Amino acid sequence: MKEVKVESNFFVYEDVKDIPSDVQQLMQKASEARINAYAPYSKFHVGAAILLDNNEVVTGSNQENASYPSGLCAERTAIYYAGAKYPKSKILKMAIIAGSTKTMTTKPIPPCGACRQAIAEYEIKQESPIEIYFMGETGKVVKSNSLANLLPLLFDKSVL
Ligand code: THU
Repeated sequence: MKEVKVESNFFVYEDVKDIPSDVQQLMQKASEARINAYAPYSKFHVGAAILLDNNEVVTGSNQENASYPSGLCAERTAIYYAGAKYPKSKILKMAIIAGSTKTMTTKPIPPCGACRQAIAEYEIKQESPIEIYFMGETGKVVKSNSLANLLPLLFDKSVL
């Protein structure tokens, strides 16, 4: 038996004003998309914006359903739309902003496991890393240089 260590590196910016200006703009688009979140059940509103290599920005927000599992997260709403509309374009960056209407969310909110799995599919398909930035409504912004960094030991097509 041997122990295997898996390391992930993240970068933490103290404030959204400290991130690169193109990503600030992307985060602003994510924030605008968040306004359209439909989250009457959780009251947790999430916005995501994706920058493609054709310079297009695709956004999404979480969309809930009375049948809870039928709803979809913001990140997957955005990435599936990007895949459907621009199947040949590479995804360069994703910005995510999230928070509850019940309290002020100051902690960076990372994408859930299912969204990580979905984003991983596109990172593998395009053979280049997707930068992920995430934050709460305010406060620190966390950057991951790739999705793989957020999901060690991921399940991918190589095992099928
Ligand atoms: N949600 C997202 O949109 N993205 C995530 O990565 C985690 C959770 C949404 C789903 C649901 O509408 C609400 O947040 C509470 O889980």
